[in-house]
Amino acid sequence: MTRATWRTRLGFVLAAVGSAVGLGNIWRFPWLTATNGGAAFLLLYVLVIVLVGVPGLLGEMVIGRRSRRNPVGAFGELGGRPWRVLGGVALFASVVVLSFYSVVGGWILRYTAASATGAYFGAPQQYFAAIDFGVGAAAFHALFLLATVAVVYAGVDRGIELATTVMVPGIVVLFGGLAVWAWTLPGSAGGYEFYLSLDVAYLRANFFDVLVAAAGQALFTLSVGAGAMLTYASYIDEDRSLAADGTIIAVLNTGIGVLAGLVIFPLLFSLGVSPGEGGPGALFVGLAGAFADLPYSRVVGVVFFGVVLLAALSSAISIFEVLVAYLVDEHDITRARATAGVGGLFLLTGSLAALSPGLFALLADTIANLALTAGLLGFLLFVGWVLGPAAIDEYRTGAGTVARMTGRPWYYTVAVVLPLFLAFTLVSGLGGVLG
Ligand code: PFF
Ligand code: NA
Repeated sequence: MTRATWRTRLGFVLAAVGSAVGLGNIWRFPWLTATNGGAAFLLLYVLVIVLVGVPGLLGEMVIGRRSRRNPVGAFGELGGRPWRVLGGVALFASVVVLSFYSVVGGWILRYTAASATGAYFGAPQQYFAAIDFGVGAAAFHALFLLATVAVVYAGVDRGIELATTVMVPGIVVLFGGLAVWAWTLPGSAGGYEFYLSLDVAYLRANFFDVLVAAAGQALFTLSVGAGAMLTYASYIDEDRSLAADGTIIAVLNTGIGVLAGLVIFPLLFSLGVSPGEGGPGALFVGLAGAFADLPYSRVVGVVFFGVVLLAALSSAISIFEVLVAYLVDEHDITRARATAGVGGLFLLTGSLAALSPGLFALLADTIANLALTAGLLGFLLFVGWVLGPAAIDEYRTGAGTVARMTGRPWYYTVAVVLPLFLAFTLVSGLGGVLG
């Protein structure tokens, strides 16, 4: 059977943007920015995206396009059998990430449904506190997973490409509309202040912690380290500039993250809700509660949480596809069977995370970051020291004049600078875990 490919270049870019834009942008990034120095954090974060995130993303894309395989097959094909273990790390990271991600996806699905019915409008705090873990959370996680399965089952071009071509522009338009509307509300100014006021002193005093947080967020938000971008790039069948595509993906992803904060904080402040110290989850509950006091509260709630849901779904699809691609390529089974098998696996692991707050926190706060960092570290060492100069050839294939000139600097960044940086964040992350 011939391997699946994207129909158009735009289709690939939108699918990759769909993977990148997700809960990381909307749930995590605005809160991280607001509590880590505002505009000072944003500046450092953009630097990390440019110097670490984009080169790392391009490293994954080079491996995927060169091999046209899933992660396990890709490393085996390009480096020889023992290197398949690197693909194993990618599969492991994928399982870890989607196991908690789909639980949050289930929460968002429930927020959306409850906005439509107005179920939480009387007592939001109590309503949401009662649904975060347990059988109900497992059930909504399963529904979210089912939507993911349906898209992946339909195939790379007729499922993923088609769905994300509709979803990603929808996210941009609806979020843009919400941001403009929030700006018109009285009292919204305090939101911008809280979100982006420049706190250089904070950054100075906590520089290394903030740097590690920014690095973790940069990898997560660009979907690197788990082989999702590697897999998506493996479905490219024409030669075009990976550097240009990677740049577009990073710019849109960062823009949508910033935009999310421009929706959330002005809304919170205009509704008189304090963002508090409770983290992103509490922030969403506060927001949901505030919606109840608005005119057209149901519409606002459904649109807001519906956008978050689309973003979460298009990211979940890309993680799910890593495992499906592995089964289809390496074990020669049909997409239908692979999808069912992977769905069964996540039904189990996600339900466990939905039933156990401890497991959820372990996966989401600790193991996911470590696995993504370790994964990317391995991928880039492979690009630099196993693929070697062939990586520069692949990078330059289809690239324009300017992009071709970045080939060599990119290569040294990926081979030397990034491994050192990632090893540093990995060690400090491990240090944090071990006490
Ligand atoms: N980039 C996604 C987000 O920001 O929500 C999360 C993600 C997707 C992480 C795919 C890793 C991945 F492979
Ligand atoms: Na993202």
